[in-house]
Amino acid sequence: MPDTRHHARVRLLSLLQSSGYRFVTPNTGTIRRMHRRGPPASPTLRDIFGWSLPFPEGALDPDFTESLEAADGLERTQAGLRSRLRCSSVGDLLFLHSAFPTDAADSVFLGPDSYRFANLIEATLMARTPEGPILDIGTGSGVGGLVAGARCPGSAVTLSDPNPAALALAAANAEHAGQTVQLCEARGYDAVCDGFGLILANPPFIAGGSGRVYRDGGDLHGARLSLDWAVEGMTRLRPGGRLLLYTGSPILTGGEDQLGRLLADAAREAGCSLTYQELDPDIFGGELGREAYQDVERIAAVGAVLTRPA
Ligand SMILES: C[S@@+](CC[C@H](N)C(=O)[O-])C[C@H]1O[C@@H](n2cnc3c(N)ncnc32)[C@H](O)[C@@H]1O
Repeated sequence: MPDTRHHARVRLLSLLQSSGYRFVTPNTGTIRRMHRRGPPASPTLRDIFGWSLPFPEGALDPDFTESLEAADGLERTQAGLRSRLRCSSVGDLLFLHSAFPTDAADSVFLGPDSYRFANLIEATLMARTPEGPILDIGTGSGVGGLVAGARCPGSAVTLSDPNPAALALAAANAEHAGQTVQLCEARGYDAVCDGFGLILANPPFIAGGSGRVYRDGGDLHGARLSLDWAVEGMTRLRPGGRLLLYTGSPILTGGEDQLGRLLADAAREAGCSLTYQELDPDIFGGELGREAYQDVERIAAVGAVLTRPA
């Protein structure tokens, strides 16, 4: 049964690719606005697989309907049929992930952060390609590992995540991209070995317990997982290896970037060099009204590259 679903997902990706499908996933507010406008009379593939809008019987070609059904991705709602799967393009690659809204605890994330993460990876790899295996920790639908894998065809790529639903979609996305990857169901660095040339991470970084595995970043106003993954990751690098962390840094009232400071301390202690930059000064501003953020003035998207000396 799982194999049937996997093949159906890969087939769905091929059908979308053959149709010239492209869709860039925007933030939640923008998607909500589109839903308030209501579904169009003749929904397109982008309406169905990008915006997650309901659609009437017969709106999809039979090939699509069959693949979606076999992928366990079709549901019947009061508003009509609905795809449980979304598909987004990142560069030339297509990624299946969870339909909007991503309220379920095991939702598979892909959003604007994934695009900033992918851009950071491209820019970092442009400067130097890695020697040695690549690990994408908290891979979700596989964006980090597959973007890097496409740039570094000779490197072994491991995609790791504790969410089996994420790994199932990442497996289909990898196969569609023509990449052979190793999948690892694990939290943090459990079950992965050492000696990576490149570790990629876009961890959950939101404060407070939402119960959603792609979101909750722990204490330090949600920055705990980011810090822990960076600290342990530095010990998992081979000499000359790099760890690339994309995350949200809560900037405390008064302007202190606590995560930036803690990363700098950790890098010094581990004997690694650090480059650190703000990529966007203000993301997830809607979260700041919550209790968990009462002493935070903004959340910045940041990119850190930690390099172990050769
Ligand atoms: C913000 S999402 C990023 C997904 C993907 N890397 C991307 O950029 O699109 C964070 C991911 O981390 C995973 N995750 C959550 N807790 C984790 C843990 N303790 N160890 C490893 N991965 C975890 C989630 O399942 C989710 O897929």
